[in-house]
Amino acid sequence: MTPKQTPFPSRSRVLGTGSYAPKRVLTNGDLERMVATSDEWIVTRTGIRERRVAAEGEDTSDMAVVAARKALDMAGVAPQDLDMIVVGTISADMPLPSCAAIVQAKLGASKAFAFDVAAACAGSLYALSIADRFIATGGAKRALVIGAELLTRLVDWSDRNTCVLFGDAAGAMVLGPSEDSSRGLLSAHLHTDGTAADILSIPGGGSRTPQSTQVLERKLHKVHMDGREVYKFAVRVLPLAIQEALDANGLAVADIDHVVSHQANLRIVESVLERLHVPIEKCWVNLDRYGNTSSASLPISLDEANRAGRLKEGDVIAMMAIGAGMAWGGALMRW
Ligand code: ACO
Repeated sequence: MTPKQTPFPSRSRVLGTGSYAPKRVLTNGDLERMVATSDEWIVTRTGIRERRVAAEGEDTSDMAVVAARKALDMAGVAPQDLDMIVVGTISADMPLPSCAAIVQAKLGASKAFAFDVAAACAGSLYALSIADRFIATGGAKRALVIGAELLTRLVDWSDRNTCVLFGDAAGAMVLGPSEDSSRGLLSAHLHTDGTAADILSIPGGGSRTPQSTQVLERKLHKVHMDGREVYKFAVRVLPLAIQEALDANGLAVADIDHVVSHQANLRIVESVLERLHVPIEKCWVNLDRYGNTSSASLPISLDEANRAGRLKEGDVIAMMAIGAGMAWGGALMRW
């Protein structure tokens, strides 16, 4: 008797990638004129040299749509053929409805169900994992995964601890079933530790402390961060997440051809890769040009590496991301 064949593909594969960053560049020199900081401090502590700032009237969904169109073009998929859209974002156009619903309308992807994932800088990795599961179980054939973030409107421009770090951008991936069972997303491993929620948050403007003049005066609607604790948390858990993904697939560190990482700060990326004994040259680094673009940074890095011709068929890509929650994860993809 032949074994029962599953009617579903075992895994999903990236069919196209795209990214977008607004035109306006804000350099460290510009920031020197806004807060008590210096190009030297920012570069040595973070690796960031400049970031992009969305134009007036440009919303998160606008950036997401540009990145999505590029990914759809590369994939040769029409918006009408999408079954689902997942947007990783914590800076949607408005609290309700989701950014994904607005993106769905702007793209004319009328068949697709659409929703946001709020996992901060890990948002696009969470979104990728969810879309992969829908495809793997036959719930969707074409999925659009986006990370889009407009954090420059959510930071306090008088707080040098946070305002130097973030930038606006969007990245997108189109997923479909993998015909070659050895290629595609091998596995994703997601984690959350809500007991660390306080180290990175936007404490006001939600249901606990609804918007009020007091919230505005105390700037509770802006990003609050204990940078040192975030740093320590990230360098502790990210190597474990990558190792977990390797173990799950019977692979070793030496099998990693590329690292596509959330770009929070160069010191975090360097420290994690050092602990894993992965050379930094394997990682696509672009935070010097964009700063921390939260959920957008992982798909932007994948898109840039892809368009630069870095990714060859069969290459193993290790992915990692971490953000507020704390929420993080590691994944492996065979290109
Ligand atoms: N310019 C100049 N000085 C500054 C600035 C600035 N922009 N920001 C802080 N400082 C000062 C501080 O006030 C402090 O001064 P003090 O000693 O007089 O009090 C001094 O620099 C050292 O501050 P620390 O916070 O201890 O600096 P640290 O070396 O930890 O670097 C940083 C700060 C870059 C934020 C680091 O902690 C870090 O990278 N943390 C990770 C945070 C992160 O990446 N967050 C992004 C969101 S989460 C994510 O994406 C994972």
